[in-house]
Amino acid sequence: MISGRGSNMEAVIKSVDQGLLNVKLAVVISNNPEAKGIDVARKYKIPVYVFEIKDYKSKDEYEKAIVKLLYEYEAGLVALAGYMKIVGPVMLRAFKDRIINIHPSLLPAFKGLKAQKQAVDYGVRYSGCSVHFVNDTLDGGPVILQEVVPVDIDDTEETLSSKILKYEHILFSQAIKLYSENRLKIVNNKVKII
Ligand code: GRF
Repeated sequence: MISGRGSNMEAVIKSVDQGLLNVKLAVVISNNPEAKGIDVARKYKIPVYVFEIKDYKSKDEYEKAIVKLLYEYEAGLVALAGYMKIVGPVMLRAFKDRIINIHPSLLPAFKGLKAQKQAVDYGVRYSGCSVHFVNDTLDGGPVILQEVVPVDIDDTEETLSSKILKYEHILFSQAIKLYSENRLKIVNNKVKII
């Protein structure tokens, strides 16, 4: 699921194309009709659907429609690749422990929006990215993988974002690979890699 540029989605598609990741990318869903990632997904001939919350009576109804489509495609895992909406109870229930997200910070630091700006503003020496399971706490689900990225004193939100993004593109596919190989087990809110 995407909302914007779709570079993480494209990195996953490329991993599949290169045979590094043995999964089928069933469907791409965007909540934003203007998302650049829609064209990217089409370029790779992956079915794309747009669901806009404003077309539904409630967020529950919006998510029910998405869940219906995901079931039709027999999706096993929902990968949030820059999906900018909070996942609600309908999706969480339908895909319990089967939704993952990529976040551009070392969680639990710098949750929410503009994580890279938060890191630059704070003046941390290291930031990075995290892939985590999604639960009902914002950016708070069990962490699957993280990568550390040093922050230079001269870094801006833009330079740090592009440094982190390179690692995101590797980490997201790695997490999906582990999931697809059944190697992730949540025990006491922590992820064991088997
Ligand atoms: C990434 O930085 C991701 O960590 C965050 O949103 C951004 C999405 O970028 N959740 P893209 O759409 O994958 O290029």
